[in-house]
Parts: sequence; C-alpha cells; structure tokens
Amino acid sequence: MATILAIETSCDETAVAIVKKRQVLSSVVASQSELHGTYGGVVPELASRQHLETINSCLSEALSEAGLSWQEIDGVAATCAPGLVGALLVGVTTAKTLAMLHNKPFLGVHHLEGHIYASYLAEEQLKPPFLCLLVSGGHTIIIYVKDCGHYEILGSTRDDAAGEAFDKVARLLKLGYPGGPIIDKLAQQGNPQAFKLPEGKISLPEGGYHPYDFSFSGLKTAVLRLVQKLEQEKASPLPVEDIAASFQATVAKVLTKRTIQCALDYGIKIITVGGGVAANSGLRENLLAAAEKHDLQVYFPPLKLCTDNAAMIACAAEDHFDRGHTSPLNLGVESRMAITKVMQLYQH
Ligand code: KG4
Ligand code: ZN
Repeated sequence: MATILAIETSCDETAVAIVKKRQVLSSVVASQSELHGTYGGVVPELASRQHLETINSCLSEALSEAGLSWQEIDGVAATCAPGLVGALLVGVTTAKTLAMLHNKPFLGVHHLEGHIYASYLAEEQLKPPFLCLLVSGGHTIIIYVKDCGHYEILGSTRDDAAGEAFDKVARLLKLGYPGGPIIDKLAQQGNPQAFKLPEGKISLPEGGYHPYDFSFSGLKTAVLRLVQKLEQEKASPLPVEDIAASFQATVAKVLTKRTIQCALDYGIKIITVGGGVAANSGLRENLLAAAEKHDLQVYFPPLKLCTDNAAMIACAAEDHFDRGHTSPLNLGVESRMAITKVMQLYQH
C-alpha cells in the first residue's frame, strides 16, 4: 500500500488529493462551475486557463492538509483520458514535472476508472467482481469490474449521457448549469407522476429491445415538447417542479431497470454507482429499493466523491502502483479512450 498524490483536471474541476491505503488524507476541489455557468456549459479554453491559475494553490493546500512532505509521497498521478485535451494537459504536465523533480514514479489514470474507485474509498470491504453503473456528464455505462484495470462494458447510452440529459433539460427550463443538482432539488417538491415521459428503449434488429442499453435524447425532446405545449396553453407559471420530478423519476427508473436486469442475468450480487448522477436522490432511492427486492447489494459513494475529485484518481493509481504499474513520462493525453484500454497506460 502506497501514498499517492493525484491531480484531476479533465473538465471543470481543478482537484488535488492524497490517498494512503484507500484513506483520503486530503482532497481539494476547486470548482469552475460559476465561471462556465454564464455560458450554460464548459468552455474548454477557459477551463484550461483556470486550471493553470488554480493548480499550484490546490497542490500546496493538499500537501498541508495531509501534513505531508514530498518525501512521504510514493507516486504522482494525473487523469490523462478521457476529457478536454487542454485541461488534461495542465494536470498531466504538472504531475510529470513533479514526478521528475522529486524522483517519483508517474501514473496516468483513466477518468472513468477513477469514478469506479470512488466506491472503494467508502467501502473498505469492496472487491471485484461487481457491476458499476457509471453515470456522469459524458458517460452512461454499465461496467463489469473484473479486476483492477480489467473491465467489460455490458451496456451504454446510444446518444446523450444521463448527466448531459439533466444539464440539457435544466437549460431548456432556464434553470442554470450544472443542471443535475438544480433539477434534483426541484424534483423533491414536485409530483413524479404529473407527466408521462418515454423511457427510451433501443430496438434490436431481430425484434425486442436491448436489455442494458440506454437512450436519453428522446426523453429530452419529450420534455422540450411538453414545455412548448404548456407554454402554448399559457400554463403560467410553468410547473417546473412537476416537470423536474417526472423527468428525474423516468431517468431513475430506466437506470435502475437496466442495471438490475444486468446484475440478475450475469449473477452479480454487488452493484456500485459512480459519476455525478450517482448523487441524484431519485436514483439512490429507486436503485436501493429495487436491489433490496432482488437481494442485491448497492454501494453509492458519499456525495462529494460522486462528482469529479482527485481522491478517486489517487485511489485507482494506488491500486495500479501496488501491482507495479507505472506510466512512461511520454504518455500523452486523449480526449476519448475506452475504459477497456486502461492497461495500455502502464508499463508492467
Ligand atoms: O462525474 P461528473 O462530476 O463529471 C463528469 O465526468 O462528467 O458529472 C457531472 C454531471 C453533470 O451533468 C451534473 O449535472 C450531474 O453530473 N449531476 C447530477 C447531480 N449532481 C451532479 N445529476 C443529477 N442529480 C444530481 N444530484
Ligand atoms: Zn467525471
């Protein structure tokens, strides 16, 4: 077991954390959501510049919060894929420079593997095999976690990611960015049965539906049509709480249905959830209730570990480090990279 300092700059959070034996010694997250909020989404160039301005203070804060000096750090890690290239470069270049300066091994980490490892930080007993429902701003996938670095994708979205659907629906309701937490809050004051919305099924050529794949673009369009209809009918004020609750309930229902079906079909007893949408109260409630019915165990990371942070990146890096995996200093960054290719990041 090692002490790892990790940097996460794949999107709009500048984060640095130190993890030792799966314990978070420090975790600093500087969110840029206010900066991007005015534009209704992340502006890549602004994100990179902001990472550059914030990274050094996050580093000093993480070290002092943990009360550690560089001598006590065994390895330096950074998210290297997938994400915004300019943003990733800030974290990776900083981590490589620090690794060289302090003569420590460098480890590149796949952002989605980090989201899987968020559950390890909360559940000490957790070990593979298990199923991870990964629901973030850019991804919605059901992953079969076989071992560290070894993953199989059993289901995924064919269009929008779950978090993206939350953000787009929030935008069309003029609620602000990021949409997930705002919709979640409003949904708690609304009626989830107020409007019937489509679940988004993926048809198979041989007939029937794909049991584990998702589609959220139809749901988003249905919300748009509903809003247009209500506006035409001059329903004022717009029943935003009921729309939010009905939308959230539909997303939670679909995610739960597919994940439980997958776990039952594959005979997997443990489910973990990761990514920003794992913070959603509707999903938590729905999935926990369904899992209990089927005698399955579900683990949700604590809220602050669901959204982007560097502790989950450090935790993934620690497991790789313990297995003797390190990355070459000429490792590049990638905007897209399948989680099934994680082992390509390491020389071992
Ligand atoms: O994992 P994450 O922080 O970043 C990515 O890797 O994408 O996820 C961000 C996404 C955003 O789309 C945000 O709206 C969504 O997670 N999110 C939520 C909640 N909190 C964050 N979605 C639904 N309910 C929430 N409580
Ligand atoms: Zn993420």
